[in-house]
Amino acid sequence: MPLNLFSRVEPTLGPDEEAYRLHFFATDRAQARASATLVLTLMAIVFALELRLAPMDRIGAITVVRSVFFTFSLVLFVSLRGLNTPAVLDRASLVWSIGFALQFVLVALFRPPTGVDTTALLVMILAMYGLASSPLASRTVAPAIVSVGSLLAFTYTRRDPDFSLWPSAVMVAIVNALGFVFSARLHTQRRRQFQSEMQLRASLKERDALIERLRQSHKMESMGRIVGGVAHDFNNILGTMLTTGSLLIDELPAGSAAHADAETMLGAVRRGAELTKQLLAFSRQQVLELKVVSLNELVADTQRMLMRTIGENISISVSLGDHLSAVRVDPGQVQQILLNLAVNARDAMPGGGVVSIRTRNVTLEVPTIMSHSMAEPGPYVVLTVADDGTGMDERTMSKIFEPFFTTKPKGRGTGLGLATVFGIVEQSGGHVRVESAPGAGTTFEIFLPAVAERPVRRDTPHDAAELHVPGGSETILLAEDDPELRLMTARALGSLGYTVLQATDGIDALRVAQDHQGSLDLLTTDMIMPAMGGTALARELSARRPGLKVLFMSGYTDDAVGRGELKPDDPFLQKPVEPTVLARKVRQLLDTRKAG
Ligand SMILES: Nc1ncnc2c1ncn2[C@@H]1O[C@H](COP(=O)(O)OP(=O)(O)OP(=O)(O)O)[C@@H](O)[C@H]1O
Ligand SMILES: [Mg+2]
Repeated sequence: MPLNLFSRVEPTLGPDEEAYRLHFFATDRAQARASATLVLTLMAIVFALELRLAPMDRIGAITVVRSVFFTFSLVLFVSLRGLNTPAVLDRASLVWSIGFALQFVLVALFRPPTGVDTTALLVMILAMYGLASSPLASRTVAPAIVSVGSLLAFTYTRRDPDFSLWPSAVMVAIVNALGFVFSARLHTQRRRQFQSEMQLRASLKERDALIERLRQSHKMESMGRIVGGVAHDFNNILGTMLTTGSLLIDELPAGSAAHADAETMLGAVRRGAELTKQLLAFSRQQVLELKVVSLNELVADTQRMLMRTIGENISISVSLGDHLSAVRVDPGQVQQILLNLAVNARDAMPGGGVVSIRTRNVTLEVPTIMSHSMAEPGPYVVLTVADDGTGMDERTMSKIFEPFFTTKPKGRGTGLGLATVFGIVEQSGGHVRVESAPGAGTTFEIFLPAVAERPVRRDTPHDAAELHVPGGSETILLAEDDPELRLMTARALGSLGYTVLQATDGIDALRVAQDHQGSLDLLTTDMIMPAMGGTALARELSARRPGLKVLFMSGYTDDAVGRGELKPDDPFLQKPVEPTVLARKVRQLLDTRKAG
């Protein structure tokens, strides 16, 4: 370890470490006090000897010099009693040592040197090296003056021809060297002590941060379970209402008051369904339609929509990373993330500003702490959405991902935006990191695991076709355990011309299929049912009736169903399903020819 002669050994710690710093300072002060006391005591002994041994005519001058020194020491010590900073202690030690050195040299001019002088000189040099922990260089100043000055004074005042200076000079040199080494060792030890204390503190801090993250992630986890449970049950209820409402509207005369009422009701149901969907997203229980895509392509596709949504006085700056790796995500959900983050950024910049969206590849070398989780090392694609708006304080930041947390006035925000972002990202195996400070803007970073596969091109929906509700005459087997929802879905499909066979679960569906003599074109099944779930049913039935098309529906899946059982391109609809969406999907499936 290089020895720095000019700087004080001090921990560089944050302001909250004041107590720690003071503790070390107290040790320094005690050490300085002990050294000074030792030197003063020795000085008093030497002075007593001088009074007895020095020539009478010199006693006056010697007494004056010694008295001045004792007075100077007294004044210095009294005035620095409450001394409380290392810099002041260093300065005081230096001033006092120089005062000491000068009086020592002065006295040597007034009387012949004796053996006592040499001994006292040596002990004092050592004591001075021990004086506080000021920079090593300034600690050597005083002993150096004492050594050289005394030797010169001894030579100058030499009256005793037998007195030989050389042994003294050698001794002084040796003691100086010893003092320096001893002092340097103290210096090094002290530095080590600081370093290990600092390391300890750093690791304690890191541990605290980890515990906090863990607590946060547990909190989100249990919140997710509660919210997900409620949302799941609501989903089926809303599904029934949505289907019934649609049928009702068709039956009511257009333009009638009842028709308008039904429209209003359906509007409310749709809002409820939207809310439920967000809650399911937060609880990571929404079924994701995972596709391997390029984030750059997704961002580029979404950019126009964002510009339209976030208004005129906000501009969007997009910077897409080169050679970006692909990610496995639900493209629609990533667009939702972008939209939510961009809208938040807009709200944070009431006076206008720039939302900057960036993509880049990042490889994490070590486990990295994210906002509510730990990211494993590995390659990621990072989507950054940053604004230079109002920013957030620590307290706000710790809550932003909780559902219904909002700082916006009533009616302006539901507090579900970031909750869904969080859920979607976590469910996709990714992580979120937020950096923000009041007045300093906010940066959201979405880390998504990079995959080695090549991205598939996304097809864009045709707007014109979306208005048309197609029907047909094929036969559909509908397996759904919720009786009301089953009935309503069957009615909706029936009204479009299809023949609908109903089953209450997988086993029942197999029985119904067995009993049915004619052709069976499509199986529409819920995923989770009491006796035999959707995937098992689809497998069984496809084996018995080759060419059968299958459409899965669910409002709720745990991770196993969401990612494992369902293949990425298995046709799937998220409940609650709008009758028109169902009709379109059914038609689309029936119209696709089996490849080969
Ligand atoms: N870019 C940002 N700058 C400053 N604060 C933000 C930013 N993004 C989010 N916040 C804070 O986080 C809170 C929660 O955001 P979230 O998107 O979840 O809900 P919301 O925007 O209030 O409502 P919603 O998005 O449901 O309409 C916001 O109310 C706001 O205080
Ligand atoms: Mg929001």
